[in-house]
Amino acid sequence: MDSLIHEYEPKIRDAADLDALEAMRVALLGKSGVITEQLKALGKLAPDERKARGEQVNIAKVRLQDAIASRRAALEAAALEARLAAERIDVTMPGRHVDPGVAHPVSRTIERMVSIFSRMGYAVADGPEIEDDEHNFEALNFPPHHPARAMHDTFYFPDGRLLRTHTSPVQVRYMRDHRPPLRMLAIGKVYRSDSDQTHSPMFHQMEGLVVDETANFAELKGTLAQFVRAFFERDFEMQFRPSYFPFTEPSCEVDIRWERADGSKAWLEVLGGGMVHPNVLRACNIDPERYTGYAFGLGIERFAMLRYGVSDLRAFYDNDLRFLRQFA
Ligand code: DAH
Repeated sequence: MDSLIHEYEPKIRDAADLDALEAMRVALLGKSGVITEQLKALGKLAPDERKARGEQVNIAKVRLQDAIASRRAALEAAALEARLAAERIDVTMPGRHVDPGVAHPVSRTIERMVSIFSRMGYAVADGPEIEDDEHNFEALNFPPHHPARAMHDTFYFPDGRLLRTHTSPVQVRYMRDHRPPLRMLAIGKVYRSDSDQTHSPMFHQMEGLVVDETANFAELKGTLAQFVRAFFERDFEMQFRPSYFPFTEPSCEVDIRWERADGSKAWLEVLGGGMVHPNVLRACNIDPERYTGYAFGLGIERFAMLRYGVSDLRAFYDNDLRFLRQFA
């Protein structure tokens, strides 16, 4: 037993790795290991011999077990050290490249407009894109066969419903659902059978409506001037031209003095508006003797083109990432 201890203790201490150590454990203490065999053999000895021999074998067993356990602890600690060293993360390395999407220029323009008008106390409203004649035309004072309907190039469904040609029907829905005083902003998709460099069959409009006992044209002018200044973050010469819409009287169109990239200047029409026609208020159960209103509408893409210097409207809908990424 002593020579066994003397042979194995240094071998165990020097075991190169956990596998070598385990092989030695099996050879000594496994099912048919040297020590195990010795323990089994004790039964065949005479009782007085068995006691002395048993003590010797047990001493050897405990010493070798201890040697194995301490070598295993040392090897495992070394293995852990090695793993920690190998898996170390250098937090100073540059991160992996991620390529997040960016908000579409039309969405950014919408957010900008909502933010400007929210600060002026307007509530944002919504309506369906599939409308009926009553909301899109009739209640907005376009009688049947009125020539102004022809300007709208309407897409009709076989059942007579239509894709809304403007966001003005949201005015009608809002006035029927809310009592004045009210300030509403509606933004959304509208549809007209028209397509070229500055027209798309689907585009976006923004619509504003104010109804109370004192709404007046001067306030409309001030609101639009303030909006244009806030949107473009600069001052413009502006002109309010008399115009015609069935749902407003008087009506105006608003031009801004725009400086092109080459330095030349031109009047650009950017907005329509006017005092809400008494027939429209009546169609929405609002008493035109007591209340007045003003309304205005604009094309979102037009504003996006001017703000970002985009010359072809179709660029917004081609989904060319090289174009869209520029708005990051
Ligand atoms: N709905 C008009 C259009 O699509 C735009 C418009 C003009 C809206 C005047 C208004 C308004 O609310 O008062 O051309």
